[in-house]
Amino acid sequence: IPDPPPAGPLLAWYDRHRRTLPWRGEADPYRIWLSEVMLQQTTVAAVGPRYARFLTRFPTVEALAAAPWEDVAAEWAGLGYYARARNLHAAARAVAARGGFPDTEAGLRELPGIGAYIAAAVAAIAFNRPTVPVDGNVERVVARLVPVREPLPGARRLIAPIAARFMEQAEARARPGDFVQALFDLGATLCTPRRPACALCPWREDCAAQRQGIQEELPAKLPK
Ligand code: ADE
Repeated sequence: IPDPPPAGPLLAWYDRHRRTLPWRGEADPYRIWLSEVMLQQTTVAAVGPRYARFLTRFPTVEALAAAPWEDVAAEWAGLGYYARARNLHAAARAVAARGGFPDTEAGLRELPGIGAYIAAAVAAIAFNRPTVPVDGNVERVVARLVPVREPLPGARRLIAPIAARFMEQAEARARPGDFVQALFDLGATLCTPRRPACALCPWREDCAAQRQGIQEELPAKLPK
């Protein structure tokens, strides 16, 4: 498994260029979890107002757990994928019943509807556990750095263990929540699918795709 680049330059970039987002600076796992569930299916721009509205209606995981399903469904209207809202409600009830969120990735994974990505995101961001959630942004960044030429979705088998290796570094382990959000921001603002802004990238010297001029071609996708 190849070495990922040093975490330090990405964290320094994040300290200067981090986006101001409604869930940034939150320590409440309920708020982090809700943001990640919404962001799985909806853009950052669209999530902002809905996130604030949802939290006004259901300010705590206990409030969400106590609400009837019809109220949760009504508040979710327009966000799509009602199965996600069903899982959200079921997980809230499980969390309330056990008296709070589990604070490990494995514990989070046992909640209804919490998959590998959400468990890792909440563990890293809310609990500073050294784990790297792999979303589309992280896949793209890692595929370009290495480079991984195999097309998605198969390439995930290669990308996930490389992404996990970031957390072997002391600088990443010191700030797991910041590090993973820095990866998200890098993928969303510089390491974009089209016309990535490599000249501004803290990892431009470390990126194999950039050196080879193939950054826009990665990650490859299987033809539909
Ligand atoms: N996309 C998914 N999770 C995110 C987060 N916490 N911050 C920014 N973009 C994201």
